[in-house]
Amino acid sequence: MKPLQGKNIAIIGSGNMAGAMIGALLRKNELSPDQIRASDPYPEQQKIIAAKYGVSVTGDNREVVKSADIVILSVKPQVLPSVLSELKGKISPSSLVFSIVAGMPISTIQKGLSHKAVIRSMPNTPAQISAGMTVWTGSEEVSESQKSEARVILKAMGNELYVEQEDFLNMATAVSGTGPTYVFLLAEALVDAAVHLGFSRRDARMIVLETIRGSVEFALQSELHLAQLRNMVTSPGGTSAEAIYQLEKGGMRTILSKAVWAAYQKSQLLGKKAQEPPDSPLKVEN
Ligand SMILES: NC(=O)c1ccc[n+]([C@@H]2O[C@H](COP(=O)([O-])OP(=O)(O)OC[C@H]3O[C@@H](n4cnc5c(N)ncnc54)[C@H](OP(=O)(O)O)[C@@H]3O)[C@@H](O)[C@H]2O)c1
Repeated sequence: MKPLQGKNIAIIGSGNMAGAMIGALLRKNELSPDQIRASDPYPEQQKIIAAKYGVSVTGDNREVVKSADIVILSVKPQVLPSVLSELKGKISPSSLVFSIVAGMPISTIQKGLSHKAVIRSMPNTPAQISAGMTVWTGSEEVSESQKSEARVILKAMGNELYVEQEDFLNMATAVSGTGPTYVFLLAEALVDAAVHLGFSRRDARMIVLETIRGSVEFALQSELHLAQLRNMVTSPGGTSAEAIYQLEKGGMRTILSKAVWAAYQKSQLLGKKAQEPPDSPLKVEN
């Protein structure tokens, strides 16, 4: 029997990520539309999601969580406090609450809902095409069968990694959650460099994105260390050696390491801020 067979899923907040999740779960036949009930305050968005996926969508969060086995929280972090107070005590104690809300600690959700079994996950934007990487963990009250159900939901959106400690979620926010921005910035810089050389922007985009795609697929299929793969294309006195010399001289590794560390600190800070009164003076160290 499939883990989600016969389960009712409620989705609070029917935006981009919710649409990506519903689409992926239906595409992979893990759920049928009648197992999903979603909510959104904007009537136009309710119609769009209902028409696109054939699921029922309403503006009433409390109505949606009634008889739900899994409640997915998919609203923006700033909206979450009001959603938590609205749903406090309304979710069955045997249900699983599954949050994809960035930076929101499990304890905040447990306290806000008066609910014990909570999963916190950090997906990334490629989840929208089922090529995401999600890191997740759960409170100790989450059962093994609920973990299996969560895994099915996450696998529909790409790859997943379970971690034991919640701070790894902040680390993942800095590496995989923020990761697509690093890759897009790198790609954008390479496209500009190729245009500088004389390629049209269209050709430059294709050359750069295909080079990134091919290199990633090559690395995933290879058993070799990334440095060995790089050394294979770095001939003595050649073009790669010249380019790498300039990248190292410019501090590329240090800059990346500093960027990831700063994003990690910011993620920790936002999590702490979520537990503070609204006008807390916490600031990020640069
Ligand atoms: N996008 C990503 O790649 C990504 C990655 C990792 C984590 N996340 C997390 O995923 C969550 C959702 O992100 P998203 O990109 O899908 O955002 P989004 O497109 O803005 O979706 C959120 C939806 O929630 C609706 N909403 C607002 N107030 C609500 C309420 N009180 N009750 C129910 N629904 C309400 C919004 O409606 P209105 O538009 O009418 O306000 C919107 O349709 C965020 O917490 C984000 O941190 C996203």
